Amino acid sequence: MRVLVTGGAGYIGSVVAAQLLAAGHEVTILDDLSTGHSDAVPQGAHFVKGTLRDCVAEVLADGADAVVHLAAKSLVGESMADPSKYWSGNLGTTLTLLEAMRVIGVRSIVFSSTAAVYGEPERTPVLETDPLRPTSPYGGSKTAIDTTLTEFARLFGLAPVSLRYFNVAGAHHVAGEGGGWLGERHHPETHLIPNTLAAATQGRPLNVFGTDYPTPDGTCVRDYIHVTDVADAHLRALDACEPGRHRIYNLGSQAGFSVREVIEVCRDVTGLDVAVTEAARRPGDPAVLVASSERIKAELGWTPTRDLRAMAADAWQFTQAQARAQADRAAAEGPGQSNAAAEGPGQSNAAAEGPGQSNAAAGGPGQSNAAAEGPGQSNAAAEGPGQSNAAAEGPGQSNAAAEGPGKTNAASEAGPSPKAPGPATS
Ligand code: UFG
Repeated sequence: MRVLVTGGAGYIGSVVAAQLLAAGHEVTILDDLSTGHSDAVPQGAHFVKGTLRDCVAEVLADGADAVVHLAAKSLVGESMADPSKYWSGNLGTTLTLLEAMRVIGVRSIVFSSTAAVYGEPERTPVLETDPLRPTSPYGGSKTAIDTTLTEFARLFGLAPVSLRYFNVAGAHHVAGEGGGWLGERHHPETHLIPNTLAAATQGRPLNVFGTDYPTPDGTCVRDYIHVTDVADAHLRALDACEPGRHRIYNLGSQAGFSVREVIEVCRDVTGLDVAVTEAARRPGDPAVLVASSERIKAELGWTPTRDLRAMAADAWQFTQAQARAQADRAAAEGPGQSNAAAEGPGQSNAAAEGPGQSNAAAGGPGQSNAAAEGPGQSNAAAEGPGQSNAAAEGPGQSNAAAEGPGKTNAASEAGPSPKAPGPATS
């Protein structure tokens, strides 16, 4: 089959594309790389960089038998701050895709829907027939797409399958030449397992959002599914596409794990300690989200085969592979320029050090720290509404700038260079 994978340079999309290729399908990936990575495009896939709005009609007209549609905006918090981005970026772009499919005559589509369509479920495990009460524009936009797919099936004989993901985790290993690990690389990263692994490697505490939920240990309970199992469900869904019928399946394991339990598994897999900061609840987090996966088991024969430990272990392999690749790149670059940038909702730290020019920039709503040090020119900049600290140090020129409504500290210290502006605090 010739399959168009939208969002195929992203975390889940790249694994779906890799599995499709391994199963002998022809794969075209359309991705604007706004959140995806060109190096995640699996070898053998045809890659088109562009947006659905601009390119999808042309790409489909080139030849496609089916679409797996993953391209989307997917941050719940961002959707609360900027709803239009989600209605237009998710529902609007999907309408463009569906209209092009209708005109060109492509019927089969597997759509990545989400547990967020259920909002705060009244009972668990959640069934596909339970009420849809999204609590965010992200969940709302996905719910609206599911409704549109039902209508297009009824009115135009579209053959859609919606897969409602619960918590996707882990990493996928592609064997052979050009293979390697495909995993999660979001900026900013909001998901629990990658954040726990990052905290473990960087020796900083992990924020646990909410410890007073009505759950056994007070932290939220989620249903985690390995990304390889998720991709497998897409291949089964493609085979099940049926004109005029909208199939909808939850993708879960029917088992829940608390935030504390996930952290414990990550500690065990890495052999590293993870310090924890008990933080306030994150707005919009339901206490328990666990899926019933009876329907997909009965109709498509799908069951998850990899447990939480395998998810944490594979995500850890991916994290280490990324660190090795980064070290290799730095070594290959030699004594030239060193750059570090950090941005995220929590504390952001960037540090660059090297014999050449060193640049560090940190920004984000939490505390931002940037430090640059080296015998060449050192530049550090921190900016954000929280506390901003920037420090540059070295015998060459040193520049530090901190800016923001919170407390700002900038210090640059240099040896013999006359250009150093000296310490500044505001
Ligand atoms: N968490 C922390 N610390 C972190 C990150 C997460 O304590 O640094 C907690 C969250 O508060 C939550 C749990 O870990 O209780 C899981 O959080 P994730 O961000 O990993 O996943 P979510 O359950 O929030 O999100 C998932 C999907 C979304 C989807 C949502 C539906 O990733 O795309 O389920 O509610 F919208």
